[in-house]
Amino acid sequence: MSRFYITTPIYYVNDAPHIGHAYPTVIADAVSRWHRLLGDDVLFVTGTDEYGLKNQQAAEAQGLHPKELADRNSTRFRAAWDLLDIVYDDFIRTTEERHTRSVQKFLQAIYDNGDIELGTYEGLYCVACEAYYTEGDLDDGLCPIHHRPVELVKQENWFFRLSRYEQRLLDHYAAHPDAVIPATRRNEVLGFIRQGLQDISISRSSFDWGVPLPWDPTHVTWVWFDALPNYITAAGYGDDPERFAHWWPADYHLVGKDIIRFHAVYWPAMLLAAGLEPPRSVAAHGWLLVGGEKISKSGAKFTQITPADLVAEYGVDATRYHLLREVPLGGDGEFSYEGLEARYNADLANNFGNLVSRVTTVVGTKCDGIGPAPSADSSLKDVAADVVRATTDAWGRLAPSDALEATWQLIRQTNAYLEAHEPWKAEPGAEVDAVLGDALEALRIVCILASPALPRSTAEAWRRLGLEGTPAGQRLPAAVEWGNSSGGRPIEKGEPLFPRRKG
Ligand code: MSP
Repeated sequence: MSRFYITTPIYYVNDAPHIGHAYPTVIADAVSRWHRLLGDDVLFVTGTDEYGLKNQQAAEAQGLHPKELADRNSTRFRAAWDLLDIVYDDFIRTTEERHTRSVQKFLQAIYDNGDIELGTYEGLYCVACEAYYTEGDLDDGLCPIHHRPVELVKQENWFFRLSRYEQRLLDHYAAHPDAVIPATRRNEVLGFIRQGLQDISISRSSFDWGVPLPWDPTHVTWVWFDALPNYITAAGYGDDPERFAHWWPADYHLVGKDIIRFHAVYWPAMLLAAGLEPPRSVAAHGWLLVGGEKISKSGAKFTQITPADLVAEYGVDATRYHLLREVPLGGDGEFSYEGLEARYNADLANNFGNLVSRVTTVVGTKCDGIGPAPSADSSLKDVAADVVRATTDAWGRLAPSDALEATWQLIRQTNAYLEAHEPWKAEPGAEVDAVLGDALEALRIVCILASPALPRSTAEAWRRLGLEGTPAGQRLPAAVEWGNSSGGRPIEKGEPLFPRRKG
């Protein structure tokens, strides 16, 4: 059994969750569910990023203490994840005691190592990014990400000696070619490092909503320097060395392309400076766009689609499926209701849902509702074996869209197999039994393979097939071997799992 540690970014609490946040969270959830099927020891961590100027200003604008706003919005993130059946192992809030302890221990280690020094900084600051820019980074004088004015800030701050880590980072990436995926992002990161790294200011004395530096409590930690260590806090860094040795380094930090520099340059350098290993891989995804615009809290109202909006209209599984299937990980992708409806009807209503209805109905009429056994040499057996291989490979390289595409091949082929044999027209007997036994077995395998994406409907289909336990409770690879289940179980018909939507 191997261990598998995956994280999402921790979300700012300046506003409520939208589907741009649901996107990486559903992906990380589905990937961790896949690893649970493999029998891995899984740690899946998400949470909220609660300090910093951006959160403080949002609270002030609403007449709240920043902690009140953090409490309110952190709860909304949790509620959204509950609604989407996200099964995280830990939800970390950066304002928790355990995190303060961990950040202070971590910064102290870097300080003791001589990599944090006092200096004066004058620079252009974007509050929305919580980051400094140089003139050259700006877009028409505005922040390149948020297109809003930056402020000239001059402060005596503590600096992290990032410039010392150029070569070590290049060596690290040379030795670990998959440490940033996809390759386009890796090249971007390498290009950035090769341009030369500047030391970065990591403390603020102009406001106090942050973790105090252990050696200089008149300064609080720059929010990114307290946010990134959430990944080690959740692994036990602050107070449980044994737990930390088990979980660190993380297997994947799943992040949006806008925060790749923080995760693939600053974070590994910070870890090296503290004598810790960098994460095994930082996986960057693109943005969900609505009408070509990034969905965001600060963006136009119409782009603010929430997870609750989609779940209310389409249900949990269809929402998850769409987020996982529509946009291959890495690129930007357009979100539209038309796209969701089209995929719902094609993949869920007409394919998966229809297969479940057909098989259970025909077993009812032709086999007295008792499922026949699969045959040992069905053509579907080979299809299933290929699909298991392709699905496994795709989840393994963090490609949920490919994984689902592969799994759906088995659904399509099984529907085609039924259409070729038309058991609903044939007389009951050995031939019909063989066809339906094969279809039931293919469907059983589909339920397991699709369970990371569709936890509810696969569990319901599983129950209708008279199988014990749940698809998520099965263990690969044995459970997806052809013939792992025998016939003789009562099969139940039911309401369509995904009623067709009228366009
Ligand atoms: N708090 C920081 C992350 C700290 S991690 C140590 C942050 N928070 S955020 O709430 O602004 O964004 C969190 C993540 O959500 C980012 O990875 C970002 O890419 C992602 N998304 C926000 N809007 C998005 C879309 N419209 N589409 C896809 N992902 C997007 O950054």
